[in-house]
Amino acid sequence: MRRNNLFSFVAGLSIVATRTVLGAPTSDQLVLDSKTPRPLVIWHGLGDTALSEGISSFIENIKTVHPGIFVHSVQIPQGGSLDDERRAGFWGNAEDQGWAGCEQIENIPELQGGFDAMGFSQGGLFLRFYAQYCNNPPIKNLITFGTPHFGISALIPCPTPPTLTCLLAARAARSGIYTSYAQSHIVQAAYFRDTERLDEFYAVNTFVRDLNGEKGLGGDSNDKSQSHTQTISLDTFDDDDNEAILRVREEVRRRREDKKGRNGSGQGVGGLQNFVAVMFDSDRTVSPAQSSQFSTYSPLNKSEIIPMQDQPMYRQDWIGLRALDEKGGLVLEHCPGEHMDLGGAGGCGDRIVKDWVGWPG
Ligand SMILES: *[C@@H]1O[C@H](CO)[C@@H](O)[C@H](O)[C@H]1NC(C)=O
Ligand SMILES: *[C@@H]1O[C@H](CO)[C@@H](O)[C@H](O)[C@H]1NC(C)=O
Repeated sequence: MRRNNLFSFVAGLSIVATRTVLGAPTSDQLVLDSKTPRPLVIWHGLGDTALSEGISSFIENIKTVHPGIFVHSVQIPQGGSLDDERRAGFWGNAEDQGWAGCEQIENIPELQGGFDAMGFSQGGLFLRFYAQYCNNPPIKNLITFGTPHFGISALIPCPTPPTLTCLLAARAARSGIYTSYAQSHIVQAAYFRDTERLDEFYAVNTFVRDLNGEKGLGGDSNDKSQSHTQTISLDTFDDDDNEAILRVREEVRRRREDKKGRNGSGQGVGGLQNFVAVMFDSDRTVSPAQSSQFSTYSPLNKSEIIPMQDQPMYRQDWIGLRALDEKGGLVLEHCPGEHMDLGGAGGCGDRIVKDWVGWPG
């Protein structure tokens, strides 16, 4: 990890926690809708918690702009302490967290008619996971801010002063990001897509690889994904020898694999009405920043970016992204600042939220 990266994350992390605050509503926003606005689900970013100060005031502001709106902020683990939540951003099995999010959302009665969803940074990947594998009730507008949709080529730097959780996760990740241990225990490893080590990525990754329909690119014989989809944590059981428990575990695994489908991308993003992918133009936290709009470094030259339109995933439409784009449902937005700098009152965060959230349900 380069030293200047450590530095930039000071901004990165505190921004996640503080600058998600939106400005007060302007008078033209206070027009009451005749219908109740569509509910909203939020999935926070790394190092944050479901109801942190930043997220809470964000929710308060949305409620002022759209009176009566129902907002749910996803909490992983549900009912966990603040420390559990912060830790879960770094440590854990990303797929398990994705499935847990599906279950949490599916069980909320207020969301049954569909909802909009807003993901901050890595939270956007989990919401895309929901859209592709679960989506019942469906997401209508998905808005992602600085989400590494095509993975990261370098770890997200730790804040200064670094937290122990972050340091330990970074150390474990550096010692072998493409081991099956890291892949199933460190959240960032699940979306670490080093363009110089694609063979290893395709062989062991199941999270961001499958979200982008890249399963099988490493060749089936190389696919070790079975080994960690089997590490499903059914924490309530600890007697591994019990045959009934093994059967339950196998059944859970089978159902999840069914939802992911043969090529791993599930039903793709075709169920969305609009997918608004926001890139922060001065983002030095996500590497490359353009990953937030499905661009990657070139595998041959890290100074070159392969734009979304040139990715095989887009051209051959592996996840329905191109089809969504062609019917006008893919919106590539920009904010000028650093990672998660929403620009305060009247800034680009305000504008995007105003455009895409709170439509009559
Ligand atoms: C990599 O790409 C950059 C920018 O296009 C270019 O200037 C450079 O010569 C390339 N390097 C190699 C080794 O091809
Ligand atoms: C993956 O599966 C989905 C749903 O069955 C399908 O629409 C898509 O075209 C498939 N992608 C590839 C690369 O086969």
